[in-house]
Amino acid sequence: MGGIFYGIGVGPGNPDLLTLKAIRAIETADVIIAPKTEKKDGSVALSIARPYLKRNVEIVYQVFPMVTGFADSSEAWETNKREILALLSAGKNTAFLTIGDPMFYSTYIYIYRLLAKEDIEIETIPGIPAFCAIASRFGYPLVEGNDVLTIIPATATEEKIKGALAVADNVVMMKVYKNFSDMAGVLEEHNMAEQAIMVSRCGLVNEECINDIMAQKDKRVNYLSTIITRKSKGE
Ligand SMILES: C[S@@+](CC[C@H](N)C(=O)[O-])C[C@H]1O[C@@H](n2cnc3c(N)ncnc32)[C@H](O)[C@@H]1O
Repeated sequence: MGGIFYGIGVGPGNPDLLTLKAIRAIETADVIIAPKTEKKDGSVALSIARPYLKRNVEIVYQVFPMVTGFADSSEAWETNKREILALLSAGKNTAFLTIGDPMFYSTYIYIYRLLAKEDIEIETIPGIPAFCAIASRFGYPLVEGNDVLTIIPATATEEKIKGALAVADNVVMMKVYKNFSDMAGVLEEHNMAEQAIMVSRCGLVNEECINDIMAQKDKRVNYLSTIITRKSKGE
């Protein structure tokens, strides 16, 4: 019988923010798949899950290129898929780790789509997305009453970002990295800069929270950075 494939959300950083289900799956997995980018040696998802790894567990690093769409790098995904299928057919329960939630702007989605076409058992275990952890940690209510929450990747086109901001009450802006300065300016145009907080590496080493994004807009920010803001001033 083949192994089970688990897609596990490990939350944004603090190892206390994994679900019990995620911990149980990690503790019993035969193989851990740790996604990493070409540029970095380590895997953030693996470092978050490390307290729960079984002694001598097999760790397989898979490189997932930083791309905007699946078609850009289908060869890399296919190679990773074949490696996972070989592990599963050897009867190994295999846990693929992913930051935050696996179905939310995650590399897991690409590999999940490929594996879902195969005759294997898959279980996806949700995780706490970064924006929820940030809201709790920094005391920033996300939405209440009839507020509409709009989630915007800062990598989207300017037209799309401005269109979304025009109708948004409250905003989560993801993937604020190379474009922090531009995003601060666009939020200022929509009267959302003053209420904004930008949090980098929530729950991880070198966590940072910026409250005055316009004053700090020229700062270099970490890849793991998210802005939360709203139109109204709040309480
Ligand atoms: C590829 S997406 C992954 C999202 C993830 N699946 C989630 O549920 O939060 C990467 C983006 O998530 C956000 N992010 C993930 N972890 C974070 C953290 N610890 N602190 C701040 N933002 C984080 C940032 O906006 C980052 O650019």
